[in-house]
Amino acid sequence: MTTVRDVRAMAGDERITMLTAYDAATASIVEEAGIDVVLVGDSMGNAVLGYDDTLPVTLDEVASRVGAVARGTDEALVVADMPFLSFGADVAESVENCGRMLKEEGANAVKLESGPHTVELTERLSDLGIPTMAHLGLTPQSVNQTGYTQQATDREEATEILELAEAHEAAGAFALVLEHVPTNLAAQVTEAVDIPTIGIGAGGECDGQVLVFTDVVGLAASSPPFAAQFGDARAEIHDAVSDYVDAVRAGEFPAEEHGSAEEELDDLY
Ligand code: KIV
Repeated sequence: MTTVRDVRAMAGDERITMLTAYDAATASIVEEAGIDVVLVGDSMGNAVLGYDDTLPVTLDEVASRVGAVARGTDEALVVADMPFLSFGADVAESVENCGRMLKEEGANAVKLESGPHTVELTERLSDLGIPTMAHLGLTPQSVNQTGYTQQATDREEATEILELAEAHEAAGAFALVLEHVPTNLAAQVTEAVDIPTIGIGAGGECDGQVLVFTDVVGLAASSPPFAAQFGDARAEIHDAVSDYVDAVRAGEFPAEEHGSAEEELDDLY
């Protein structure tokens, strides 16, 4: 079973693979395919729950999906992505919400969309035995302030990211997601910190990469410019379902082997 220590030890040595999953069946496939870290992302909002963004995703929705993913995996590290306003406003409530993911749902760690307001919380969580992954750059829960554009494109913002990365490392974060920032900034952050950086739209110099499952397999209706599609699951699912529809309409399904009769029930009517 992969631990946060294993993930930390991979920095600079072996590239870390991380992918989202939101249910047990998908998580088991993702793990079988060799993914090191399964993120139960709040991207579930857009990816599978039908919301326009991640803001409406609730703690209960994430908890239910974290439990499913934890039950569907044996080896991968399972990280619960804490949804909007489930952390940050009140320390005790934040600790309780993050702790629930480990205590009740079987996660191994939590991820917080980070900023100056999460440094102290990261330290508190680490002290309490709740491994925390930080997330800097584009943080979709702040979409109303930042939009979805590339972040930290000027020196001032880039320096702030660098300093926040160091502050979160000092506070005990075991890894750091860098989303949609210039590749040369991500490379310098990776150089500056000892914890692994995991990039998404941040170039190839990070210690690992993360993407959203539905983008990777080709299930998403639309994907961000930095995502890559490695399959066409949408077409495959469409074909399987339309074959099923045709078989039912043609009377070809179910066939005899899909049911069984009981002789003594023949003359009921
Ligand atoms: O919610 C999510 O899936 C994420 C990743 C894109 C990093 O935060």
